[in-house]
Amino acid sequence: MNVREENITGFGQDAVFDGGQAKTETTEGNAVLHSHVPGVAERRGVRLQVRGLRKGYNGHEVLKGIDFEVNAGEIFVIMGPSGCGKTVLLRQLIGLETPDKGEILVEGQLLQPPELTTRYRVAMVFQSGALLTSLTVGQNVGFYLAEHHLKPPKEIAEIVSRDLESVGLKGTEKEMPDELSGGMTKRVAIARALAVEPQLIFYDEPTSGLDPVSSVEIAKDIVKLNERIQATSVIVSHDRDLAFGIADRIAVLEDGRILAIGTPGEIKRNANPIVQYFLNATIAQMRTLARSHPQSATTESLP
Ligand SMILES: Nc1ncnc2c1ncn2[C@@H]1O[C@H](COP(=O)(O)OP(=O)(O)O)[C@@H](O)[C@H]1O
Ligand SMILES: [Mg+2]
Repeated sequence: MNVREENITGFGQDAVFDGGQAKTETTEGNAVLHSHVPGVAERRGVRLQVRGLRKGYNGHEVLKGIDFEVNAGEIFVIMGPSGCGKTVLLRQLIGLETPDKGEILVEGQLLQPPELTTRYRVAMVFQSGALLTSLTVGQNVGFYLAEHHLKPPKEIAEIVSRDLESVGLKGTEKEMPDELSGGMTKRVAIARALAVEPQLIFYDEPTSGLDPVSSVEIAKDIVKLNERIQATSVIVSHDRDLAFGIADRIAVLEDGRILAIGTPGEIKRNANPIVQYFLNATIAQMRTLARSHPQSATTESLP
């Protein structure tokens, strides 16, 4: 079947969310992929622009006007504390939800939000990295290609083997998801995203729930893959080490607004006190901070 002629409705669209949690084991964690327009097939790393994006639920606005641009091939980390709207933002971008307002442009061209995933190869690595538990690791990684008969089985097996190897999991095809550690599960989820050769890849909290060593391994994988496939990589995370370790540029998100965007060096020098608080606060400081400046012990109380 010719990929370009098929209007694929990827299985990511079936995901059912409830306050950020997947309702079924089979949805969250799936890479999202759709077909793409002729002419962009071989291009990697598209430029993404988001303008004035707003989203609220039941009268409570979560995203309060989000603007940013990600250059082609860049590693862009949207960093912010828990609950600031990172996952909600990704859901708008990949078309799982419809924003109340705002524009999404790819390669300078205005798209209706769902078109991002119908016109470009877009992959998403969900936070839990949950895999299809009844399938083997290899079947999970090759799932999309096999399900849509996009490649012959032999070629799918080669792709699966290549992508598992590139996340350090060579030869794990026959293993079952429930035999894997948290770090391995996330790496399989990344391999599955890679198998669709994305032009744009979104990661939701790729290091959350992992020990420091596994986090470093994931960070290395993200960088290596960004270099190899040159996909534009957008990562949302609360992990400062990850952001400062691998980002080309960082956006700091707080309470549904972007407070600062820049290179890691620029963000470190940013004068906004909330940005500085988020960058510098440590648990060790908390006691002293709370004693000497009761008002500055929480982000809510900062100006
Ligand atoms: N479907 C929803 N309905 C109502 N509120 C939601 C929904 N999804 C997320 N929220 C709220 O939006 C805020 C941001 O959530 P989220 O984007 O998941 O945060 P995080 O930055 O930790 O990923 C939270 O207060 C959350 O409760
Ligand atoms: Mg989240």
